[in-house]
Amino acid sequence: MKNFTSFADVGDYKALLQQALAIKANPYGYQHIGKNKTVGLIFFNPSLRTRLSSIKAAYNLGAQAWVLNAGADAWTLEMADGAVMNGGTQEHIKEAIAVMSQYCDVLGVRTFPTLQNKAEDYEEVVFNKILQYATVPVISLESATLHPLQSFADLITVAEARKKERVKVVLTWAPHVRALPQCVPNSFADWFSEVDWVDFVITHPAGYELDEKFTKGARVEYDQHQALEGADFVQAKNWSSYRHYGQVLQNDPSWMLTPAHLAGTNDAQFLHCLPVRRNVEVSDAVLDSPNSLVIQEAANRVFSMQTVLHELLK
Ligand code: CP
Repeated sequence: MKNFTSFADVGDYKALLQQALAIKANPYGYQHIGKNKTVGLIFFNPSLRTRLSSIKAAYNLGAQAWVLNAGADAWTLEMADGAVMNGGTQEHIKEAIAVMSQYCDVLGVRTFPTLQNKAEDYEEVVFNKILQYATVPVISLESATLHPLQSFADLITVAEARKKERVKVVLTWAPHVRALPQCVPNSFADWFSEVDWVDFVITHPAGYELDEKFTKGARVEYDQHQALEGADFVQAKNWSSYRHYGQVLQNDPSWMLTPAHLAGTNDAQFLHCLPVRRNVEVSDAVLDSPNSLVIQEAANRVFSMQTVLHELLK
């Protein structure tokens, strides 16, 4: 693995999953890999889990970590090639990323989408510039279209919690108060449509179809109750429309997950990447139930990152 930006970078996902479980069982047993290594973390957008779990993962691996809040802590960056920089931007991304590469052995970057320009977001224009200018391996901490560290943590969580060999995993759209990116559901589909012991189903209101590049032929069921029938795991997440890019087409509160929604499942265990809007996306009763895996899922963000760092630094 040269960089970690999507499922396609992984190669053998079963081997990566086994490595993650081995690292989780012995988190300080690989410190020779991180000795005298530095992990750089750049955030163009807010984060709680990704920031803290990445730092913890680096420390577990015996490495040091630094964090830069781009836009707040550093010069205002110019992204455009050939720009005449006589306006508000003070440093070009070309030098900034090349320089930051001098200060670390692997670089993690978070760059959210604009939700305004579909072509620019889905071509990953900003993230690809970072890949172009970095001289060290790059890890996506969530790009314009994908959040692979989250999906890898979700896979670790489902693998740990499954009670039978083959499981049904449902990704359900949930209401929200804002227009959110498609990164988490795109990435969840990108990973779970490939897992050979998972029957994967996506459910959402009409108009919220995801990019088929990521759903890869997964079953889409527009009736949420039908989709949830017999589910072993349910991942809830809001996203804005891909087709009518960035728009909230409707926000039907009946899609909020409650115990009644889960009544027809196989005692489904609940997943959400967090942060979650309580009693908007999912009810307190589901989030606070013994079947909620959200804290274990967040804990596994350490081990998804630690495993990726292990692969890139070894
Ligand atoms: N799930 C997740 O990526 O959380 P943060 O945005 O807080 O990092």
